[in-house]
Amino acid sequence: MSRIKIVGVSGGLSSPSRTLSLVQLAVERIAKAAGEAGIAVRTDVIDVASLDGIGALRARPAAAPVEAAFEAVESADLLVVGSPVYKGSYSGLFKHFIDFVDYRGLVGVPVALLATGGSDRHALAIEHQLRPLFAFFQAQPLGTGVFFTEREFADGAVAAGLAEQRFERLVEEAVHALSGRRRGARDLTGAAA
Ligand SMILES: Cc1cc2nc3c(=O)[nH]c(=O)nc-3n(C[C@H](O)[C@H](O)[C@H](O)COP(=O)(O)O)c2cc1C
Repeated sequence: MSRIKIVGVSGGLSSPSRTLSLVQLAVERIAKAAGEAGIAVRTDVIDVASLDGIGALRARPAAAPVEAAFEAVESADLLVVGSPVYKGSYSGLFKHFIDFVDYRGLVGVPVALLATGGSDRHALAIEHQLRPLFAFFQAQPLGTGVFFTEREFADGAVAAGLAEQRFERLVEEAVHALSGRRRGARDLTGAAA
């Protein structure tokens, strides 16, 4: 049986990065819940900032490891994307990576949206920035987006209470989106622009 592919993408620039840590946790939690629901998955997490030469990329094909990251995204059954909020939006490096994803590559693909920030003032960056970006791709962002400051997510753990509930709702929506999804169902050549 072919495995459903969950691909995480983090646009965090720091080291260590809270965003990368949140994306990794979300991928792990979704994979575990999918397994419990009888869905066989494999996972991959891409840390955009660690892709050699990504900032200087001007065209594809990129060097093999970077090209492999694009191909992982374009063949995902579920994307789990996260960015730190920079100046009210996703990081520039995250957008630079996404700019080189094939515009036909995410049609109909469910996308879990995550962001980390310094203050609650920019919690809606998910709705005003990330969601429209994936609408461009005709992807299917999950209804629940997760924005966490250090109050809700620190040292790799989600705070108990409302933050945890929201995170778990995102996990449930992701597993629901994966149910019945079959790899190979997407055809890049036949997708609309
Ligand atoms: C250049 C820069 C711009 C930032 N702009 C914002 C912002 O507009 N709103 C906000 O809430 N946090 C802002 N922050 C804080 C980061 O979003 C926050 O620290 C985030 O969790 C960092 O994630 P990371 O550990 O993955 O780098 C900014 C941080 C930096 C370095």
